[in-house]
Amino acid sequence: MKENAIKTSALQKRISSQNNQTVDLNEWVFSRLEVKDNPKILELCCGTGAQTKYLAKLMGGGSLDCVDINQETVEENRNTAGKDNIIYHVSSIDKVDRYVSESVDLIFTAYGFYYSKDPVALHSELYKKLNKDGKFVLVGPVLGNNAELYEILGQIGVKVPDDMFFASEEFMLVMEREFLNCYGNVNFNRVLNRVKYSSFGDLLNYWRNTTFYDASKEEEFLSAAKNFYDGNIIVTKSISYLEGYA
Ligand SMILES: C[S@@+](CC[C@H](N)C(=O)[O-])C[C@H]1O[C@@H](n2cnc3c(N)ncnc32)[C@H](O)[C@@H]1O
Repeated sequence: MKENAIKTSALQKRISSQNNQTVDLNEWVFSRLEVKDNPKILELCCGTGAQTKYLAKLMGGGSLDCVDINQETVEENRNTAGKDNIIYHVSSIDKVDRYVSESVDLIFTAYGFYYSKDPVALHSELYKKLNKDGKFVLVGPVLGNNAELYEILGQIGVKVPDDMFFASEEFMLVMEREFLNCYGNVNFNRVLNRVKYSSFGDLLNYWRNTTFYDASKEEEFLSAAKNFYDGNIIVTKSISYLEGYA
């Protein structure tokens, strides 16, 4: 189900099935993000616009360039953000020359930088595009993410592919090390968000739209989930915010 990584409808369904949460991800992210006035912003893996609308506010009189590999997702973002001064680029984030020419004040990515073929090399290339006081911000899952879901999947013999498990657990830790090598100032924050599903059907629907879904195991999944939970159906999202600047 790797195609769910770039499928617009899968992204929309994952977002809408996670409405009942203890933490508002975007409030949590943007309450800690400070940038200079009227910044030039580059958003990578912008998706359907969950963070773009916040970045559009931060932009003020600056600029906002958004990159995503999926044309349909970019169109959805354009409609959601509704700002004609955002510049969109349909491109892989690895093709840096296609979407960035001049230096910027903020490079921001939520839940996407791990799709790069070589995130450490990509960061090294992009970090040269930051202005002297520019910031690089990555938001993504970290150790302990989806703990309940992975436990249930383990019980029924569904293996989360290694690259996806790495992205979910270790990737941000690798990037933290990289940021410590590159920046004088590094902030790393983590929060646990408990996402509550109102039924086992809702939990199944969430799984269906992930990159680690296995259609042949639906019945086993439901039965294992019913055994696992003794009350509220909760999946923990372990979320991290990594920020580097000179
Ligand atoms: C999980 S979504 C995150 C979207 C948004 N930041 C959010 O949090 O709602 C990941 C996005 O990355 C895009 N994507 C995946 N691989 C990519 C790549 N190699 N280059 C650019 N975008 C990519 C997908 O199309 C998708 O919109």
